Amino acid sequence: MPDRTIEALLLEDRTFVPPPAFGQTATMRDERVYDEAAKDLEGFWARAAGDLHWFAKWRTVLEWAPPYAKWFVGGRTNIAYNCLDRHVKAGRRTKAAIIWEGEPGDERVLTYGDVLREVSKFANVLKSLGVKRGDRVTIYMPMIPELPIAMLACARIGAPHTVVFGGFSAEALRDRINDAQAKVLITADGGWRRGNIVPLKRNADEALAGTPTIEHVVVVRRVGEAAPIHFQEGRDHWWHRLMADAPAVCEPEPMDSEDLLYILYTSGTTGKPKGIVHTTGGYMVGTYLTTKWIFDLKDDDVFWCTADIGWVTGHSYIVYGPLANGATTVMYEGTPDYPDKDRFWAIVEKYRVNIIYTAPTAIRTFMKWGPQYPARRDLSSLRLLGTVGEPINPEAWIWYHQHIGGGRCPVVDTWWQTETGMILITPLPAITTLKPGSATRPFPGVAAEILNEQGKPVGPNEGGYLVLTKPWPAMLRGIYRDPDRYVQQYWSRYPGVYFTGDGAKRDKDGYFWLLGRVDDVINVAGHRIGTYEVESALVDNPAVAEAAVIGVTHDIKGQAIAAFVTLKEGFTAGAEMVDTLKQHVVKKIGALARPEQILFTGELPKTRSGKIMRRLLRDIAEGRVLGDTTTLADQTVVQALKQRYEEEAG
Ligand code: PRX
Repeated sequence: MPDRTIEALLLEDRTFVPPPAFGQTATMRDERVYDEAAKDLEGFWARAAGDLHWFAKWRTVLEWAPPYAKWFVGGRTNIAYNCLDRHVKAGRRTKAAIIWEGEPGDERVLTYGDVLREVSKFANVLKSLGVKRGDRVTIYMPMIPELPIAMLACARIGAPHTVVFGGFSAEALRDRINDAQAKVLITADGGWRRGNIVPLKRNADEALAGTPTIEHVVVVRRVGEAAPIHFQEGRDHWWHRLMADAPAVCEPEPMDSEDLLYILYTSGTTGKPKGIVHTTGGYMVGTYLTTKWIFDLKDDDVFWCTADIGWVTGHSYIVYGPLANGATTVMYEGTPDYPDKDRFWAIVEKYRVNIIYTAPTAIRTFMKWGPQYPARRDLSSLRLLGTVGEPINPEAWIWYHQHIGGGRCPVVDTWWQTETGMILITPLPAITTLKPGSATRPFPGVAAEILNEQGKPVGPNEGGYLVLTKPWPAMLRGIYRDPDRYVQQYWSRYPGVYFTGDGAKRDKDGYFWLLGRVDDVINVAGHRIGTYEVESALVDNPAVAEAAVIGVTHDIKGQAIAAFVTLKEGFTAGAEMVDTLKQHVVKKIGALARPEQILFTGELPKTRSGKIMRRLLRDIAEGRVLGDTTTLADQTVVQALKQRYEEEAG
């Protein structure tokens, strides 16, 4: 984010009031809701929960013993029932639930009746493979309808799912399967990406060589002849074969509010990804209400969240939130530039999309391509625009508002995390006056604060750490099989307060401005990557003695990965080694973690106690004057490195 410094943000004074039409028709347009929720948090969330179906009502809305929260305690519900049966019973059987567009241009529209039938059948398939309530199921799939069908089938029978993004490598998949100790893997023969095939089953086979808990693999036929696959008799099954004989009725399992719904892995400050745990009742209520109010959902709306379901955004705002609301949700398999750079806008035009939710990195890419691409298409159906994943720079916000929204659509900049499960800081489109670049204010009932090192709230326009001081229903309940890490990671910097890992400031009007991560997490094109993860991948290569990884500012991606590497004796630095190491990281993690730059160095700048000083590496990579170097063991190392970096960067 080139202009995301506090100084630059302070100059941003443009405001956008809600268009009058929104004020008259919006789902939530009463400002008093903020006060009401603040005064009676439990009553507020109980009212939202009351819109949904419960087999047994909760006894207590919230039990809060920091850092452990339980929501809707004693309640029994099923999220798949709420996303499907509830709407079918209310007369929406023939309403489109999922509109799907494949990258090659194929298309499927599944009604609520269709999805209910497919989910019930696949739930029966899972049962026939021995999956029981509580068993974990890993899903490694392209963006095809079978992916949400598989997730909802798991939820229907109470088997927690763990979706692994299709861009992760075989090794990353293997580690996640093993951490979750999954019994079944659901995948596809392949997926389409820019006309090429992503070989999912081949990656899965490689992963399965080291996953002792997997008993069965279900394979969707997506690319067919284009990618013949290996089939292991007894272990591997075609999805369509199993579905052909499956009964179409499957009773939903009444789940306890606090039963595990899913695990989703995300990067943190150590080399090992964290399995974020989400439970049933609170997550359902949180995603339901935020989708309804923030995206101002109306019954006939077509809602398109462009994320991949492999990330939390897709879980909450392609699958659970929209379907819990009975909305029509769009999913698209491919990339925005295939076959041409107007693909997103062609999809908006074709399906008359009303609300689009995408990421700043995508918006900056569209800006670079130029306004002629959206201008080719009829975007008049759009009513509201959303963004998520990283701070949006005001220029990108303005461009989005003007060239995509035609100047008439509010932009909701929504801040949240895998851990929060639901959007927490966001405008409400009929209420909030917008400031480009600001996620504005906490959702009703959400208590956010900005603290300094000492734990004191900072003054207006001062930077600090963003924290959450009260629980919210969709919050994570822990890190899978690692209870200590949960406490240490989120609740130990300020006891009893959730530490987000983000920097922020609040202006004189109380608006929040996010400033990016303050820990060892890099945000590359909206994807979270831990510096230690990339470092472990690099030192795993026999040529590497030591590696330090940092995030550097990037015009399009927000941040890019830069690695400083020391080679072992006998290995030669050079272009070939750069390629080898980039490939190695791709193999260990996936293409999303490929370093943009690798710089070889004889030594890394360290303190006398041997700690690598990443702060100085960041100064070097950003071309800044070096900060305090007095604690360095050897002052010359960093000076030499700076000089080399500048020479190589030209
Ligand atoms: O740094 C914040 C950034 O993305 C991080 C969470 O990443 P992840 O768990 O992968 O979830 C991404 C989608 C919810 C946050 O800690 N982030 C997300 N949304 C915003 C944001 N930063 C600024 N503004 C946002 N709207």
